[in-house]
Amino acid sequence: MVLADDSSTTTSIHCGVIGNPIEHSRSPSIHLSFAKQFELELRYQKYLVEPEDLKPFITNFFNRGGKGLNVTLPFKQEVIQIAKNISEESKLCQSVNTLYLNHQSEICGDTTDGKGLLADLVLKDFNIANKHILIVGAGGATTSILYALLQIGAIVTLHNRTKNKIEKIKSNFSSIGDIELYSENPLQKFDAIITATSIFNPQLLIPLLNNITPDTFIYDLNYKERADETLNFFRNNGIKRCSDGYGMLIAQAAKSFEIWHGVLPKII
Ligand code: ATR
Repeated sequence: MVLADDSSTTTSIHCGVIGNPIEHSRSPSIHLSFAKQFELELRYQKYLVEPEDLKPFITNFFNRGGKGLNVTLPFKQEVIQIAKNISEESKLCQSVNTLYLNHQSEICGDTTDGKGLLADLVLKDFNIANKHILIVGAGGATTSILYALLQIGAIVTLHNRTKNKIEKIKSNFSSIGDIELYSENPLQKFDAIITATSIFNPQLLIPLLNNITPDTFIYDLNYKERADETLNFFRNNGIKRCSDGYGMLIAQAAKSFEIWHGVLPKII
């Protein structure tokens, strides 16, 4: 089902985002504003796709000349089976957010979430190499950023309500870098805490007040009002450097745009 305006010209490049739900997606406006930077004639639509339609939808989209698709919840893992080639990062993260065709017209998948986070942290003057980073949560949002953080030399600790999930992630990522578990060193001070849970849960965060300094940077992967409770919790406990994940949303979109169109938009 197409939710966005379907007006088009035959010469425009066609991209889109698939998910379920999808109404909330800001990707069309972000990509259209990038396209303006390059005077690119782009059509970018939101597609509400049912799980059973996922494979035929993607195949048809590319067969009909589509250039690229973003993938959002709940399909980021499922599309791995549909793409012919996926990047090393996507394999490890078990997440694809960008589909494109290679020179052989095969459907390929990559993830730009981790690179988007790194780009946003650079914009926010946070240098991640050799920094102690605590990630709270163990869902897809967490795994999608781990590869990028470990590759750039962050020292990563994981904390989650359900312990066996972080043990599994630690083991899955052992070839990329060492990950510590919060319970192994509960007095560690962190340079940054990245919150990646889908729900604000103060019980999970209260112990972390032992692990912050006034300089700790708090970054919530949620954005806008969905990040308010977590960020306000830390602000009320003396933390000044707090950010939601909106900048990461823009930056991961810019990296997708670069994969499809070969140019990296400005994101400031
Ligand atoms: P996503 O794939 O978007 O990251 P998810 O898989 O639904 O989202 O869950 C993200 C994280 O939110 C998980 O780590 C989950 O904790 P559990 O692994 O213990 O389920 C966490 N989460 C969800 N609800 C929570 C709650 N009420 N309290 C604490 N953590 C919660």
